[in-house]
Amino acid sequence: MKKFTFLFFAVMIFASCCCKEKNTEKPIMAVIDESMEHAVKQSLFMAGTIDGMEGRLPKTIDKYGKLVTSDSHWWCSGFFPGVLWYLYEYSGDPDLKNYAEKITARVEREKYTTTDHDVGFMLNCSFGNGLRIDSIESYKEVLLTGARSLSTRFNKTVGTTRSWDWNKNVWDFPVIIDNLMNLELLMWAFKESGDSMFYDIAVSHADVTIKNHFRDDYSSWHLISYDTITGQPAIKQTNQGYSDDSAWARGTAWSLYGYTMMYRETGLERYLEQAKGIAGFILNHPNMPDDYIPYWDFNAPDQPNCYRDASAAAIISSALIELSQYDKANSKKYLDVAEKQIRVLSSDEYTAPIGTNGGFILKHSVGSLPGNTEINVPLTYADYYYLEAMMRLRELLKN
Ligand code: GLY
Repeated sequence: MKKFTFLFFAVMIFASCCCKEKNTEKPIMAVIDESMEHAVKQSLFMAGTIDGMEGRLPKTIDKYGKLVTSDSHWWCSGFFPGVLWYLYEYSGDPDLKNYAEKITARVEREKYTTTDHDVGFMLNCSFGNGLRIDSIESYKEVLLTGARSLSTRFNKTVGTTRSWDWNKNVWDFPVIIDNLMNLELLMWAFKESGDSMFYDIAVSHADVTIKNHFRDDYSSWHLISYDTITGQPAIKQTNQGYSDDSAWARGTAWSLYGYTMMYRETGLERYLEQAKGIAGFILNHPNMPDDYIPYWDFNAPDQPNCYRDASAAAIISSALIELSQYDKANSKKYLDVAEKQIRVLSSDEYTAPIGTNGGFILKHSVGSLPGNTEINVPLTYADYYYLEAMMRLRELLKN
């Protein structure tokens, strides 16, 4: 019996070494292809589950590992449709296209939403990808209507769009760093319609955010509440990070992605400079682990025993791949880190076996630790940006 136990553990240790070896030694294209194939299977499983749940969209899992869903108004509603579009783009599988169209339609009613800034995430990741990949003309109306809804949240005195409408007795005009991501929808609407109102709002929001949201080291506050009489910041704090002075990992990731995207969309040098500064903060941070999967907050206590955030890693990876094309001097550094993140996220530590994890691809993300919700769980946006990162790197390597 003892002999058997010894043999069993020896085989397990050998297998795990081989497995690790496999993921670091294998060419990155092979890692990407295997991971995309795996994601196709896992997401078809998820789509099959969600298909019969009228109007519902995947959100996370509960403590028993069971899928938790939301309606379309949850800020993440566009990510799973986006996952399906990316996987259809990769595989050409007609079942994926069929599911992508059906599940994208569940988000359409959000084009009328004027009470929340996340309409950009919701529509751009779902309808935006559908339009880009499959040229579905009718999607343009949805995106334009959504962009108009989002633009109603712009305040001329402050110079930004408002993020949230809750907690009104504390925040006069709250803007969170995440809101940069919603500017992509406005920039698309500008290009599509020629209406400079969309451009002006997006550029104003990005400029005011540079001025007020960042510390000298390019880390950012999560939330600024502006005074709508003076237009000046009144409160600087966090809602999802460790403390008002800390650098919340996902917020930092949103800011990197946001300014990289705004440079792509406008060609304005100041956005490239901002993105480079943020990249420097992330890559040189003494608390960044060697595998480049950040802790949920760069200043989280109990490191190295606190939670990692796979979603922040996926967003950073995708953003760095894009930034590598604009900041040529640091291109190799960005690509090395992005590749490493993809390899680690593709390992058994982060990628769930097919049919488990509620159908989500990745494990180990953190929604809101201070809010005590979605801690160390799968989240749709981790999956979305992980696939985006792999598609971007694949495209780059092919060319
Ligand atoms: N936009 C909300 C979050 O990143 O959790």
